[in-house]
Amino acid sequence: MNTGGGDAPGLNAVIRAVVLSALNEGWEVVGIRRGYDGLLNGGDGLVTLDRGSVQGIASLGGTILGTTNRGNPLRWRRTLPDGTTEEVDRSGEILAAFEEHEIDALVAIGGDGSLHIAAELSQLGLPVVGVPKTIDNDLAATQVTFGFHTAVQTASDAIDKLHSTAESHERVIAVELMGRHTGWIALFAGISGSADVILVPEIPFDIRSVARQVQEKFLRGPRYGIVVVAEGATPAGGEASLLEEGGPGKAARYGGIAERVAEELGEATGIETRSLVLGHLQRGGQPTAYDRLLALRFGAAAVDLVSRGDFGCMVALDPPEVLAVPLAEAIATLKKVPVEGDVVRTARRLGIGFGD
Ligand code: F6P
Repeated sequence: MNTGGGDAPGLNAVIRAVVLSALNEGWEVVGIRRGYDGLLNGGDGLVTLDRGSVQGIASLGGTILGTTNRGNPLRWRRTLPDGTTEEVDRSGEILAAFEEHEIDALVAIGGDGSLHIAAELSQLGLPVVGVPKTIDNDLAATQVTFGFHTAVQTASDAIDKLHSTAESHERVIAVELMGRHTGWIALFAGISGSADVILVPEIPFDIRSVARQVQEKFLRGPRYGIVVVAEGATPAGGEASLLEEGGPGKAARYGGIAERVAEELGEATGIETRSLVLGHLQRGGQPTAYDRLLALRFGAAAVDLVSRGDFGCMVALDPPEVLAVPLAEAIATLKKVPVEGDVVRTARRLGIGFGD
């Protein structure tokens, strides 16, 4: 079992459920440290997991196995003596390590990127079962991923705190939330936190429209504003705000859009405007009970798939059940916020603007 990509609250609960369910089957369980890295140096990152190792971890954030979002064994970046880098395919070493350590199956817990790796390894013959994780909630094959609920709670709590300071100073505060190409966290936390405007990648915004919505709020009162900005939000006809371009085996890094929105909004309205980035706080801390339960269900279901020999699949929530979907299908589509859906409609009925 390994955990890959950015961490998400609930990872440890999956690990606990996999270990306990597998031990109940009479199997041995090993964890691979830092994604696949733990297999690439002669297996020095393999750790036996027993009941004691998973005692009391369901409520802990992070992952006891460690993780990385830079360790794709199929496109491994190696630095050459002249300082340049090249990509090498180390999948053969992964398959050999599984043979050498007599590992019969892999439970790969990860998001979009990690599940792509799992799907490729599965095609190469590795018996893999995937478990979806991401705070971004952007995997189409499952109704929801664990970690999302906790991230929304953290973001919504933070927005609650911004109200009093924004109101005291009669300011606008733009807060940037995670989510990569999708606006799920911003939308859910923005509505729950009573934002005035929510900017998401799925609805390109016009800063003049954001300014109008904020000015109307100031006229109506109370005289302050909260603008929730998904990190991937994009102005109509413009570009997303990236800190680092993506590339093969490397996801793009978003950042800076809230600062840009705050600057332009301040100029357009003359109202004092501040910005902040909530950042990795959204990935930390205890998983909510909802995320814990979902993660435990996913872990137990993954072991069920392994015991049935149902490989090349990912567990997914299809209420009321946890089902299996083929990995290839699971990674095929990104789940975007439905712009005509009931959640966006609810926000509009509450008077929340989207800058469109
Ligand atoms: O995919 C989860 C996520 O937290 C995104 O919301 C965010 O864009 C990204 O990971 C940040 O990654 P890193 O931890 O590499 O900065």
